[in-house]
Amino acid sequence: MAEQFIADLKRTHSCGQLGLGEEGREVVLMGWCQRRRDHGGLIFVDLRDREGLTQVVFNPEDSGGAHSEAHGIRAEYCLAVRGQVRRRPEGQDNPKLATGQIEVVVSQFEIFNPSLTPPFMLEEWINVGETVRLKYRYLDLRRPEMFSNLKLRHNAAQAARGYLNGQGFLEVETPFLTRSTPEGARDYLVPSRVQPGNFYALPQSPQLFKQLLMVSGVERYYQIVRCFRDEDLRADRQPEFTQVDLEMSFVDEEDVMALTEGLVASIVKAATGKEMRRPVPRLTYDEAMERFGLDAPDVRFGLELIDVAPIVADADFKVFRQVAEKGGAVKAVNGKGMASLSRKDLDDLTAYVANYGAKGLAWVKVKAGGEWQSPIAKFFSQGHMERINQAVNAEEGDVLFFGADQPGVVAEYLGRLRLELARRFQLTDPAELSFCWVTHFPLLEWDPEAKRWAAKHHPFTAPRPEDLDKLAGDPGAVKARAYDLVLNGSEVGGGSIRIHRPDVQELAFKALNIGQEEAAEKFGFLLEALTFGAPPHGGLALGFDRLVAILAGEPSIREVIAFPKTQKAACPLTAAPGRVDQTQLLELGIRVDKKS
Ligand code: AMO
Ligand code: AMP
Repeated sequence: MAEQFIADLKRTHSCGQLGLGEEGREVVLMGWCQRRRDHGGLIFVDLRDREGLTQVVFNPEDSGGAHSEAHGIRAEYCLAVRGQVRRRPEGQDNPKLATGQIEVVVSQFEIFNPSLTPPFMLEEWINVGETVRLKYRYLDLRRPEMFSNLKLRHNAAQAARGYLNGQGFLEVETPFLTRSTPEGARDYLVPSRVQPGNFYALPQSPQLFKQLLMVSGVERYYQIVRCFRDEDLRADRQPEFTQVDLEMSFVDEEDVMALTEGLVASIVKAATGKEMRRPVPRLTYDEAMERFGLDAPDVRFGLELIDVAPIVADADFKVFRQVAEKGGAVKAVNGKGMASLSRKDLDDLTAYVANYGAKGLAWVKVKAGGEWQSPIAKFFSQGHMERINQAVNAEEGDVLFFGADQPGVVAEYLGRLRLELARRFQLTDPAELSFCWVTHFPLLEWDPEAKRWAAKHHPFTAPRPEDLDKLAGDPGAVKARAYDLVLNGSEVGGGSIRIHRPDVQELAFKALNIGQEEAAEKFGFLLEALTFGAPPHGGLALGFDRLVAILAGEPSIREVIAFPKTQKAACPLTAAPGRVDQTQLLELGIRVDKKS
């Protein structure tokens, strides 16, 4: 009986623990059968628990009756063994295993629970589709790699708490059933039963509440908190994800950024043992866009975007000249030493950037003496070619890429091209951690569909004081007191100094074309709170899943979330989202459209 075994025999060690130091000791181990091998009279079981693997041996002499029963053990059976630690016979050591010098000779064992044949062998998970892994996530999580991710995440969260506690922050929980909190995504709605026809929104972030906590005088708040956003999913986005969210009173940008660097350094240390390089370098948004084409630049490698518009403005290549004349951007990326790119590769790259709006991707292969091999070579004089070569530092063996279009379009697709080239030529070391801050974001961005200005960050971000007077006349030129933390080309955090004066907040709403009525209806409580002596304040939120995924060396945040959702925001394990009873709907006053 399992109960009897556990009552009589307590586990003495984990499966990752035993070595020659325990030779001769009687031990009790509990775990799962990773694999059973029969060798003549001997039966070997690799017993696994979350700490590691230990080889246990059943032999006819020492294991008595246990030996014959051990034939029945199969993969993923849950069992306990009692036995004696012994040095493995000469030549049988397994140096790859922490416990590889010993084995446990079983004298007694108990199968706690058999297992069906698992849908995939844990060691062969690579070949298994992600849907199967997610449907049987509890088995997937038995894999040591997944446990190690959970543990890394746990350590990172503890480090964050420890650091913030030490800095005088208070952990405060904020509501999940609330009003819409604008972060630019769609809301998840929860219908109210008591007030039919009314809905809560799950928070996209605790933004409004943490600002209210500053008005309350909490001064330093944090929360490791779930946020909900109904947006199109990608490898680094989940419908529910976790932020390390913080807010501080009586601070400016420098204070929040310095604190964040300390926080992230302690997370990095706990997760990887590495020291984070500080201070973290900074770029303005404009600089990031000019040099890297994206506002979350990967600064681990060069391939920077170089402006060649002034050079091509009077060249014979009409495409470039016309763009340059109209004030568009003509930029080049020098693919250093990428001469091995074939015609087909170049066509593939052209197709790749077309996904990001590129109308074309002119390229040049640089030959000896700086000579151009290119479909566009004939449109350029010797002088033009030389000036371009010089501008991009072209050498034999390089491949130059050109983009010409509206500045935003060129930035986007050459920025993507840069990343794709780095991927193809393996220019990045995933173990390198390269942080940077991006500052001076525009406060607003033009939404061409809605034909109006929208907040780049969120509507409570303070404009830079020197730009305040542009809010009414030239809103696009106003810079924000916002900052993003970028790690290896991924936005892992963002925040800002907030507006703490109601008159400025009203100006911002006006620039956003949010009328007084709408502002009062949606955020009236915040506006009102600002009228009761709100302190200057600011903060930031780290995308905890993203940070942990990068620190764990994982390509997707799904690998560091215990129970993530698929690209379709579904959970294959629980089959959420699902249909509900008609009576539940009735209670909520909801009728589902048959067509959907
Ligand atoms: P922001 O919207 O930039 O800021 O979010 C902060 C960080 O959260 C991460 N993130 C996500 N991670 C996984 N899945 C998602 N769907 C997702 N969306 C965002 C990113 C991002 O940098 N209230 C503000 C913070 C503040 O101003 O203090 C906010 O939520 O890494
Ligand atoms: P075309 O003269 O249109 O055949 O273009 C000649 C080369 O210039 C091709 O390699 C195109 O991919 C490239 N090209 C065309 N338009 C652009 C553009 N807007 N930006 C960069 N390259 C372009």
